[in-house]
Amino acid sequence: MNILKIIGKKRDGLKLDKDEIDFFIKGYTEGTITDYQAAALVMAIYIRGMDDEEITNLTLSMANSGDVLDLSELGMVIDKHSTGGVGDKITLILMPIIASLGLPVAKMSGRGLGFTGGTRDKLETIPGYRTDLDVQSFINNVKAHGISLIGQTENLAPADKKIYALRDTIACTESIPLIASSIMSKKIASGANKIVIDVTCGSGAFMKTREEAQKLSEIMTRIGALSGRETVCVTTDMNQPVGYAVGNILEIIETIRVLKNEIMPEDVEHIIKELGSYMLLLAQKCSSLEEGKEMIMTNIRNGAAFNKFKELVASQGGDISYIDNPDKFEKAKYIEPILAKQSGIITKLDALQVGELSCFLGAGRETKEQVINPRVGFVFNKKVGDEVTEGEILGYVHADDEEKLREVLSKNIFEF
Ligand code: URA
Repeated sequence: MNILKIIGKKRDGLKLDKDEIDFFIKGYTEGTITDYQAAALVMAIYIRGMDDEEITNLTLSMANSGDVLDLSELGMVIDKHSTGGVGDKITLILMPIIASLGLPVAKMSGRGLGFTGGTRDKLETIPGYRTDLDVQSFINNVKAHGISLIGQTENLAPADKKIYALRDTIACTESIPLIASSIMSKKIASGANKIVIDVTCGSGAFMKTREEAQKLSEIMTRIGALSGRETVCVTTDMNQPVGYAVGNILEIIETIRVLKNEIMPEDVEHIIKELGSYMLLLAQKCSSLEEGKEMIMTNIRNGAAFNKFKELVASQGGDISYIDNPDKFEKAKYIEPILAKQSGIITKLDALQVGELSCFLGAGRETKEQVINPRVGFVFNKKVGDEVTEGEILGYVHADDEEKLREVLSKNIFEF
């Protein structure tokens, strides 16, 4: 087989067969196909697209490019994934709830890149918490505690890691076949039987419109069916950040407060009910979505979800005194209020802008090698639709650098 012929075929809008896709993925993973050849093919896929069969073959080939976890000893495992966003701490909140309802949770999460935060980075802000458990300890923890949340293992879908990094450098991130295969390959390699995907939509997401989100959802659902993993996609709003906190420690504190039933941001409640009820229904833990939603809220109210979160943290070496007393977490040097410049109803709190500013403060990374600052970010008091009066505190900027703090405070983060 010849990579030039494969590139030429896709360049001319023709369909690639399974062997051609496998040849490309194997060759690129092993390094016999160069970055510039892969870039040409990825660009051709971006422009010409792929049909369902090609996307499924690409997904399976990428999933099989590294370790494929066998979690069959755990029975039914339902995974959850988000296509990314700002302030997205849903995995941290929802997974302990689900585990407290008797459904095993064995989940691997990635680090953040750019303005989107990563669950792994957030978990690592809990002193002692280990995200690098080996696969056997991961499985043993799920058996003993019903839950384990770790980082993605090094050799999970390595083809996706290479192609994802390449896409970032050649303006090919926003391609539905490439996003769908990237997400589904990791889910399949991490051993899920059934998958629930939060397809975020809005300024702070890959998918900017409902139509694009719908298209991505339909494709991932079909790939799931074709690869024997029932998949449900739910579209959620990412025009403003999820919840009130953005930033690693700040989101862990918000997670604790939600699980303790001290606060419940409206959007967080909506998302955990939507995704969680599908997870419970797929696992036959409830007989209707309404019943599932009720079960979720009950286990927040009765403390079972919070206790499961503490059990998770303790089982992975984390210091639970921080969970009992979140005041113990490190704080940024400067915590300054954002004041309302006028009275009125907030019409915009742009997720993309907030994500970029929190990255600028140090909460995210622009390159994989960058070290994040866990302390910085935002905690908002108000969101879109809230009525405020001039001078009212709309939220706080948490910063370690005075110049950056001043720059962030000079922006119009809220619009009226
Ligand atoms: N998340 C992924 O894992 N891959 C993409 O391509 C986009 C979002």
